[in-house]
Amino acid sequence: RTVAVVLAGGTGSRVGLGIPKQLVKIAGKPIIEHTIAVFEAAPEIDDILVLMAPGYVDDARAIVEAAGFRKVRQVLPGGGTRSDTTRLALEAIGPEDCNILFHDAVRPLLSGRIVRECVNALWTYQAVDVAIPSADTIVEVGEDDCITGIPVRSRLRRGQTPQAFRSGTIREAYRRAADDPHFAATDDCGVVLRYLPEVPIRVIDGADENIKVTHPVDVHLVDKLFQLAAARAPRPVDEHRYTEELTGRTLVVFGG
Ligand code: CTP
Repeated sequence: RTVAVVLAGGTGSRVGLGIPKQLVKIAGKPIIEHTIAVFEAAPEIDDILVLMAPGYVDDARAIVEAAGFRKVRQVLPGGGTRSDTTRLALEAIGPEDCNILFHDAVRPLLSGRIVRECVNALWTYQAVDVAIPSADTIVEVGEDDCITGIPVRSRLRRGQTPQAFRSGTIREAYRRAADDPHFAATDDCGVVLRYLPEVPIRVIDGADENIKVTHPVDVHLVDKLFQLAAARAPRPVDEHRYTEELTGRTLVVFGG
C-alpha cells in the first residue's frame, strides 16, 4: 500500500493573504485541490491523508467532498511545525508496513511522472528525495553576511517534495529524533539523514514547475503555469465538428 500525505498544516505567513496559502484559488480551484487531484489520479497511490492548518480542517473537508476525491481517507489537523505535522501523519497511519510520500500541499504542479518515479525507487531504496539542479550559484554566508564558502554547483541540488519512505524507516528516524532535545528539521529526508545516516537517500529528478508557493510572486507564476498547461492539454474532441473538419466543410480551430 502507498499513502500520499498532503502537508497543509502551515498558515502561509510569507504569502500573507490572511488565509492559509493552500486555500488560495489558482486557475479556479484552491491550491490544495490541485495538489490532491494529482495523487487522486496517480495509479500508484492507494490512500491520501490530508493534514490541514487547525481552524481550517472543515474547509479542507468541504473541498475534498465537493471534488469527490475517493482516495482521501482522513482530513486531520496539522501540528505547530512541519515536522509535528509529519509526526501526526505517522501516528494516523499507524504501525502498518507501507510506502509513504510526504508532499507540500502548496506544490500543486507536481507531475504524475515524479510520483511514479518516487514509488518505483522505493522498491530499491528506503528513502527517496526529489531535487533539481540549481541554476544560481549557492553561496554560504556567515552571521556577518560575508561569504564563508561557495560549494561546487554541480554537486548541489534544490530539494522539492514529495519525499518518499518505507514506513519503518521514517518511523524509526522520527523515534530517534524524539530523544534529541536539539531536534530541528525543515524536511523529512533531513530527519533520516541525521538520525539514520547509514540509510542511502536516493535522489530523483524533480521539475522546474514543481514550485512551492512561498512568496506572493509564486501565486502569479503558478497561475501562469496552469494557463500554459491548459493551453497545451488536448481538448476533448467534439466528434461532429471533427468529422466536419475531416471532410473540409468547416474550418475548425482546435486549441488556442
Ligand atoms: N506545513 C505543515 N505544518 C506546519 C507548517 C508547514 O504541514 N506546521 C506545510 C505547509 O502547509 C506547506 C509545507 O509544509 O504545504 C511547506 O511549508 P511552508 O512553505 O513553510 O508553509 P507555511 O509554513 O504555511 O509558510 P510560512 O512559513 O510562510 O508561514
